[in-house]
Amino acid sequence: MTRHALSYADWSGAEYRSVARSLLGGRVRQGRASTQLAQRLDADYAPSRAYALNYAHTALALALAAFKRRRPQRDVVLVPAYICPSVVSTISACGLQAQPVAVGDDLNLDMAALRQALEQAPLALVAPHMFACPLPIDAIETQCRAAGVFLVDDAAQVAGVRHQGRLLGTFGDVGLLSFAQSKTIVTGIRGSGGVLLVNDPALDEELGAACAALPPSPGRLAALLEFCWNYLWAERTGASGDHLERLLDTLGLRPADAGAVQARISNLDAGIALAQWPRLEGIVAARRRVAEHYHAALQEQQAIGFPQFAPGRYLARVMLLLPAGSDLAACRKQLRQQGIQSRLGYRVPFPDQPTTRHAQDLSTRLLGLPSGAAISAADSREICQRLGRILTQFHLKA
Ligand SMILES: Cc1ncc(COP(=O)(O)O)c(C=O)c1O
Repeated sequence: MTRHALSYADWSGAEYRSVARSLLGGRVRQGRASTQLAQRLDADYAPSRAYALNYAHTALALALAAFKRRRPQRDVVLVPAYICPSVVSTISACGLQAQPVAVGDDLNLDMAALRQALEQAPLALVAPHMFACPLPIDAIETQCRAAGVFLVDDAAQVAGVRHQGRLLGTFGDVGLLSFAQSKTIVTGIRGSGGVLLVNDPALDEELGAACAALPPSPGRLAALLEFCWNYLWAERTGASGDHLERLLDTLGLRPADAGAVQARISNLDAGIALAQWPRLEGIVAARRRVAEHYHAALQEQQAIGFPQFAPGRYLARVMLLLPAGSDLAACRKQLRQQGIQSRLGYRVPFPDQPTTRHAQDLSTRLLGLPSGAAISAADSREICQRLGRILTQFHLKA
């Protein structure tokens, strides 16, 4: 039976060579790569200014603090009801209130719901392109400007990707990029890189100084080892990763709360990002192809949806929508037994309420399937056929 594993990153020899250079040169935290990455990002994203940090949510926290200083009477930050939970916890950690806005079937902000929410004079809107499915960010930029609401173009999942010719992340007041696993550019896990794009020149002096004051990221060697072992090499290392994690914990090599550490990107991670950047077009083209394969394979499986698909669209993950009432856990177990890895989407980080209900429903039915560059048309057909059989043969209904 062919095994189909999830892919969290697409590394070539260039990324490994960059790791070797940083290690052999004793330049894990600081070095030339950090400066070179900053120069590269500044050139690509001009006229926006780019600051390479450890997380996208470090960038978000700095931006929210700057917004709050300008509009101290406002506390509400709008986010889609379907969102990476770290965005919501970052907003709370800044002493602000994350308010969910309903999403559509494509997991992106619902435009009618957004228009209404903007009328309530929030401080800011965080607008992600979920799993790389692009938002109508130009229209959102116009609406936020008219409403006097700060806009964060959350391009965490789409570093280097353009929408109608313009780089995502450059709309609104600031933009975010992330280099953590399962994104577009992937350098590692937990704090392996995030970028603050300052699109409004009036914010640049303050935000540039805040970024420059941060230390370079600590603990990156252990994170690299964990990333390689548990993600990049997972097919070969299997469950031994759990043992490694316990060992790192015992040796105290893992920072206790890495998510809360605000830092600049390490030299190690900057070097990996630089090595991967020239391969971006190929990475995006391969995932477009894989999405097309799944779409074609699903023509035989009418009960399974692919709500984010559009011809020619790049998607960072293939997230399929199972029929209402499907038992997602049982389905994943059956797939696992047949050698097919799968994953869940995000849990909805809000209590049940009318604006979150659709996101909640989608999140209980979304299934992520293997979508690395190696997935062929035949692979996706086999995976979809097995999934279809599981859903019908086992009557996986709640
Ligand atoms: C849309 C979105 N925004 C922000 C983030 C936070 O990124 P980071 O982990 O680099 O802080 C994520 C992470 O998955 C994300 O998907």
